[in-house]
Amino acid sequence: MKNLSEVLARSAQTEGWLSRHAAVLMHFFLSHPPEGERNILEIGVFKGKSAILLAHEAAQRDESLILLDIEIAPPIAAIAQLHPKIEAIEADSFKLPSLAQVQRAAPFRFIHIDGAHGYSHVLDDIKNCAKLLSWRGVICLDDFFQPAWPDVTAAAFDFLAGRDHDLVLFLAGFNKGFLCRSIALQSYCELIEGPLASSMEALGCKSSVKKRTQTNPFCFYGIVPER
Ligand SMILES: C[S@@+](CC[C@H](N)C(=O)[O-])C[C@H]1O[C@@H](n2cnc3c(N)ncnc32)[C@H](O)[C@@H]1O
Repeated sequence: MKNLSEVLARSAQTEGWLSRHAAVLMHFFLSHPPEGERNILEIGVFKGKSAILLAHEAAQRDESLILLDIEIAPPIAAIAQLHPKIEAIEADSFKLPSLAQVQRAAPFRFIHIDGAHGYSHVLDDIKNCAKLLSWRGVICLDDFFQPAWPDVTAAAFDFLAGRDHDLVLFLAGFNKGFLCRSIALQSYCELIEGPLASSMEALGCKSSVKKRTQTNPFCFYGIVPER
């Protein structure tokens, strides 16, 4: 699958949870990798709706992709055949820090957290992924600000309120929250205020970027569909 339209079409046909807007937004950050940083991790693969996109991006730059799920379904094994550097690992995400394949590929420049959606699981996943994130990489948290999954949002804000990390939430939209290290914040602000909206529109997902108010200490930008 060399072509992004083909990848998005295949993702759309796959059972799972990922809107076209969310896929295109993820593609935007995946296709702007921080210089010299590599490799991608996904927690929670299900039938591979988002993993298809990640596999395409990993193959483009010959990066490693780790797909971790408590239960590896047959479609995931098929996705792992798309690029020699994809590994599908059947394990509970709490084992992440002790998995040799994960440690070998770390640090990761893009991590998609989409596993268990309960409060303590999400908090643990964010904490573990914060340690596996590259210097200027991105954590993409699924179901952030999604009313059906309040635990995800609560866990993310509780993590952010802690002082034992250097992550900030720089963008929220299309069910995703995006975090980076504070040292990388400026470069993501420039991408968001620069090419983001036109890149979304070029792929049929016209969107509007909202900037935070001065009194909001947490999230820097929001993105919503524009009709
Ligand atoms: C919402 S689905 C993932 C959706 C997928 N990313 C997509 O694009 O359709 C959540 C997945 O997380 C997996 N999961 C649940 N608890 C987990 C855990 N503790 N560790 C690893 N994976 C887990 C489930 O097996 C399920 O496949």
